[in-house]
Formats: sequence, C-alpha cells, structure tokens
Amino acid sequence: MSIGVFDSGVGGLTVHHKLVERFPTADFVYLADQANTPYGGRPGEEIVELTRAGCERLFAEGCNLVILACNTAASVALRRLQQTWLPGYRRELGRKVNVLGIVVPTIEAATGMPWAHEPELRGDKIEKLDIVGVFSTPATAASRVYEIEVDKRRQDVAVFSEPCPELARMIETGASRDELTAVVDAHVKALKSRIGRAPDRAILGCTHYEIVADLFRQALPPGTPLIHQPDATADAIARYFDRHPDYEPGQGGTRRFLTTGEPGAQNGLVATFWGAPIHFEKA
Ligand code: DGL
Repeated sequence: MSIGVFDSGVGGLTVHHKLVERFPTADFVYLADQANTPYGGRPGEEIVELTRAGCERLFAEGCNLVILACNTAASVALRRLQQTWLPGYRRELGRKVNVLGIVVPTIEAATGMPWAHEPELRGDKIEKLDIVGVFSTPATAASRVYEIEVDKRRQDVAVFSEPCPELARMIETGASRDELTAVVDAHVKALKSRIGRAPDRAILGCTHYEIVADLFRQALPPGTPLIHQPDATADAIARYFDRHPDYEPGQGGTRRFLTTGEPGAQNGLVATFWGAPIHFEKA
C-alpha cells in the first residue's frame, strides 16, 4: 500500500518532500489538483467535493492513507469527510483507509502541546507565548481553524490571521522572486500593523508558502520563529505509524506524481525547491 499526498497544486510537495526523507522506503503517490487550483478563494462546498474526489483518486491508486497536504482542504473539508463520507466509503472499498490533515500537527508544534494536555495539572512549565500569526488562504482564514485549535490548547494565546489571496496562485504559476518578495513583505507589514508589533511565532498556514519560506524569514524579525509545517507533519505521521502499525506504507520506495492539469515538468520554482524537475503524469 502507498501513502497518498494531496494538494490543489505544487505546495503539498513541501510536505511530501519531508515525508519522503522521513520514510525513504515507503511508496508515495502525489496528486495535484491543478485543473482546479487555487482552492483558497472557492466556496466551502466546492472545496469539500474536490477534496473528496482527490482522496477517491488516491485510494483508487492503491493508497491506504491520504495526507491532505493542503491547509485549505484540511481546514474546510477534513472533518466533514471523516464524519460523513469516509465510514461508508471504507465499507464500499472493504479495506482500511484513512485521511489525515496537517493543521493539528502544525498547531501542536506551534503551541508545544497536544490536545487535552493539561500542563498546569501535571506541573509542567508553560512556555511564554502571547501572539501567533498565521499566513493562509482566505478559505483557511475564514474557517478560523487555527484560532479554534489553538484555543483548545492555549487560551492565553491570541491568533492573528493574515489571508494572502494572491500568493498561492503566484507560486503555482512561477511568479518572479521580486513579485513574490513584494507580496510577502506587504502581508507581513499588514499583519504587524494589525497586531501593533511582530507576532511571537509565525505559521505558514498554506503549504505553497513553504516554497518561499526564505522570503517570510527575511520579512519577519529574527525574534519571530517560523513554524515549519512539513517537519511538524512528518513528526505527526511517524507517531501515527507507531500507533497504527497496520497502515503499512509499502517497501518499494516508488514515487508517482499525478496532476489533473497539464502533465509534464512543473515550474522552475518547484525544481529549485525540489532540487530537480518533477515530471507529472495525467491523473
Ligand atoms: N497549498 C494549499 C494550502 O495549503 C492550497 C492553496 C490554494 O489552492 O489556494 O492551503
């Protein structure tokens, strides 16, 4: 069985790359829904439907675990699919399959706390943290998932979200570094002026943004650490495999890349970040 990794486009490759490093012998199938990217400005119902179709495609490719390497899909669709679609679909398939997201692992890394962790009761020291900034697509920001999930763990932490409506599309279509720098700088400035200072920690809450993490790093003050979603997700998936040894991730070390868009090589930005061009097949 293989591990499926899903995103609207190339952003999820940032997570996929870390997963491949962490599980080198596993078989992977990556699916980019580039015919429908970007998801970030779409209505919720459409995001749910597109995400369901992506998961079905990956299960049909022999995956037993699908990781939604897309904050927009994970924020808007994951819970709905887990509750209303997955149980019936598992019965139909007659095998064990699951869909996991990347938001909770990111929040665990940002707050240093899993859900229902009660450090005061256990006498643990709580790290001082006042403000977390989240850069994301408009759909992720509107879902308020980061605010809700941080609040479950740390009611003393304020979350300020900065929707970046144009950024995922620009990265997807290979915009120049100068254009990207101007947009990243403007969003960092907007978030800082809304908070009145820099956040204590910043989350890149869209997997596309990890491709330009260095631009966010440059725009934010050195005292604001960036939470890296690919690392946080790889840690969480390793813990998942420890708890669920029945989800065997394959041993062939195969990597397939599918797109609902135009097959062939992806843009130069992706090749630079990946270290080599990636060739996609038609999904
Ligand atoms: N990379 C995705 C995310 O993490 C999707 C961006 C988009 O399609 O708008 O949100």
